[in-house]
Amino acid sequence: MTKSSVISGFYKLPPKERLAIIKDFAGLTDEEVGFLENTGSLPMDVADHMVENVIGVIPEPLGIGVNFQINGKDYLIPMATEEPSVIAAASYAAKMVRDGGGFHTSSTAPVMIGQIQVVSVAHAGYARTQVLDSKDEILKKANEQDPVLNSFGGGAKDLDARVIETSLGEMLIVHLYVDCRDAMGANAVNTMAEAVSPMIERITGGHVYLRIISNLAVKRMAKAWCTVPKESLGGEAVVDGVVYASAFAAADPYRAATHNKGAMNGIIAVVLATGNDHRAIEAGGHAFAAFNGAYTTFSKWTKNKNGDLEGEIELPMAVGLIGGAVKTHPIARIAMKILGVKSANEFAEVLAAVGLAQNLAALRALSSEGIQRGHMSLHARNIAITAGAKGELVDLVAERMVKERKVRVDRAKEVLDELAKKQ
Ligand code: MEV
Repeated sequence: MTKSSVISGFYKLPPKERLAIIKDFAGLTDEEVGFLENTGSLPMDVADHMVENVIGVIPEPLGIGVNFQINGKDYLIPMATEEPSVIAAASYAAKMVRDGGGFHTSSTAPVMIGQIQVVSVAHAGYARTQVLDSKDEILKKANEQDPVLNSFGGGAKDLDARVIETSLGEMLIVHLYVDCRDAMGANAVNTMAEAVSPMIERITGGHVYLRIISNLAVKRMAKAWCTVPKESLGGEAVVDGVVYASAFAAADPYRAATHNKGAMNGIIAVVLATGNDHRAIEAGGHAFAAFNGAYTTFSKWTKNKNGDLEGEIELPMAVGLIGGAVKTHPIARIAMKILGVKSANEFAEVLAAVGLAQNLAALRALSSEGIQRGHMSLHARNIAITAGAKGELVDLVAERMVKERKVRVDRAKEVLDELAKKQ
């Protein structure tokens, strides 16, 4: 009999009953159900209130990036990732950067853009002028929605309107600029955009469809830069390698995507650990990288006159200290405490520094020994676990596979059998 994914009232059931249905549907074993039920430090009832149709949690390893010095202050960086080498690489890069005085950072005010799409206006250019002329009235209405944000100095500060050409003709796109202070701000911005839309329809005589935040958060940028002494990096030839790698990525979107992914390895690990919206950061970063028409990098490496390496990164960074899972997820709260940032701006700047560190580590390895040696020895442990190794056998099996340069599950099983016979 074919199975149906239509489960009436699934959302109303408690997680345990949902899990029983899934067990039946997918033929899960008791052990597998046990894993799902064992939610550890994210209790099932908290998870059940965070999202819908919950049946368990999926834990990720949480590690700490060490050696980071940013604007003269030391930070320990909580990083959640499933990828081996990321945390070790970030820590290694932060140590090299430390030798050159650490990271320096800056950021803009935490301003997000709310978009309001107006269609069916008689004359888009004229409607634009009408919106701009009504700016005070629109901003007042927007700010009435969030007195708390206003009391912290945030709120809708300005607006703009753009006429764009689309496949369905001209549209007027109104941009609300909202200072979100220490929140990521999606809720505040979306609420404001929805609230002012009837007014904008009245002013323009048009019809509003979409009212939503833009993840291309170009008004909320974070920047980090650093100098790495050539001796710390491994010599001037390595400096040259990183500079060549950077030029390659800047000129080639195929490489730029991977270059930027490397930086995101670090940024997203911290964003995940702290319960922030990592999709917003990915979307914003990549859209920014294509802002001038061709997809390129958001970081750059050059050689200075002493032969040392200089790097900088700049990208949108819409993160918050409040709202979303940041306060509800118990581990995210602890991660924030470890990180010790006092404002969303400080947090955004730390993320930029972590991205730069991660990017540096990847380019240094790629342009010298390659990443596979370091990567494989960590990856081998995963393969050993997949083959069934436990406890100290994990390292024994992994080491043997790396030595033999045969990091494969079938080989891991053979080694495991051999070791078991010896015991
Ligand atoms: C792997 O997760 C990330 C790298 O591919 C980044 C890069 O190529 O710059 C190593």
